[in-house]
Amino acid sequence: MRVGNKHFRTIWLSEDKKKVEAIDQRLIPHKFIIEKFDRVTAVATAINDMHVRGAGLIGAAAGYGVYLAALENPDYRHLQDAGKMLIGTRPTAINLKKAVDRQLEAVKNSKSAGEIVRITMETAGKIADEDAECCRLIGQQGLGLLEDISRKKDTVNVLTHCNAGWLAFVDYGSALAPVYAAFDKGINVHVWVGETRPQNQGSRLTAWELQQHGINYTIVTDSSSGLLMQKGLVDIVIVGSDRTTYNGFVANKIGTYMKALAAKEHGIPFYVALPSSSIDWEIGDIEGIPIEERGQDEVKYTRGMHGNEISSVLVAPRESKALNYAFDVTPPKFVTGIITEKGICKADEKSIAKLHGNGRRNKV
Ligand code: MRU
Repeated sequence: MRVGNKHFRTIWLSEDKKKVEAIDQRLIPHKFIIEKFDRVTAVATAINDMHVRGAGLIGAAAGYGVYLAALENPDYRHLQDAGKMLIGTRPTAINLKKAVDRQLEAVKNSKSAGEIVRITMETAGKIADEDAECCRLIGQQGLGLLEDISRKKDTVNVLTHCNAGWLAFVDYGSALAPVYAAFDKGINVHVWVGETRPQNQGSRLTAWELQQHGINYTIVTDSSSGLLMQKGLVDIVIVGSDRTTYNGFVANKIGTYMKALAAKEHGIPFYVALPSSSIDWEIGDIEGIPIEERGQDEVKYTRGMHGNEISSVLVAPRESKALNYAFDVTPPKFVTGIITEKGICKADEKSIAKLHGNGRRNKV
């Protein structure tokens, strides 16, 4: 997508194909810096510390991470260890594990070191390209929802949470893809951007990418959603997902569930946009979904620009305890529909399987 007048993806291979390059998202919106990684351990740290984040992007990063591991030592055992390390970084987004599994599967019968390096490089590229293409298609599939609203209203007001834009994937995004498609078609769209404490992916990242694209948006505190809905200021909620079970339970950034509850109360459509690579064909309940718990300091401190430097300031009493669950799960009864690259369906087992094939037998 657009940064200034230049097209960027979030992650790519360097020209000599020996390094992985990615936008450092910790610094956005204040600084735009490209990082280079030449070791799989560096990729794991970047995922863990959220230089790169978002379901699709950490899947792509893991794919490239396995390729870097193959460049270091193209031995299957080394790739397995590297894969384990990558999967251990962030447990909720299923794309990460799927990318590692796909890489290991692709080379399990390889006969030579050269073949392992070639296949892991190709597979990493495919994972990234498919992620971008699925997100492009999500935009086209979801566009109709916004077009329908625009026939009745001058401005379509979309509420979103966290960052499920192009920064969370390789390109285009999931929840924001229909917004970009609508804007590009001339629809007057305005986005309510929930700030998404504690890491502020909304106020930092979603705001920044919408601004780059020239889309009208307003940042709101996370706790404003109910009031906005009560006042009739929200036409549709579209969020992303880090993992959606085959029967429609949606794991997404903490705070999503509260938005879904409020939307239900106010009769506002609540859609979840995700590439089908984020569907979990094995787990079918809330309890089975691993919920990442991050450090307390993310809650107690806040980061921002001070002068020319990005720094952290302590907000809470130093001795306070804090609990930092990074994701929550929205049950299917609160979800109006799921938008994937294949179309829109209800959040139930039958509808998801009908649109995506029987992934339970055919685990992806
Ligand atoms: O913790 P993050 O920033 O990696 O959060 C994941 C997400 O990007 C969101 O939950 C998003 O809504 C899911 S769509 C990628």
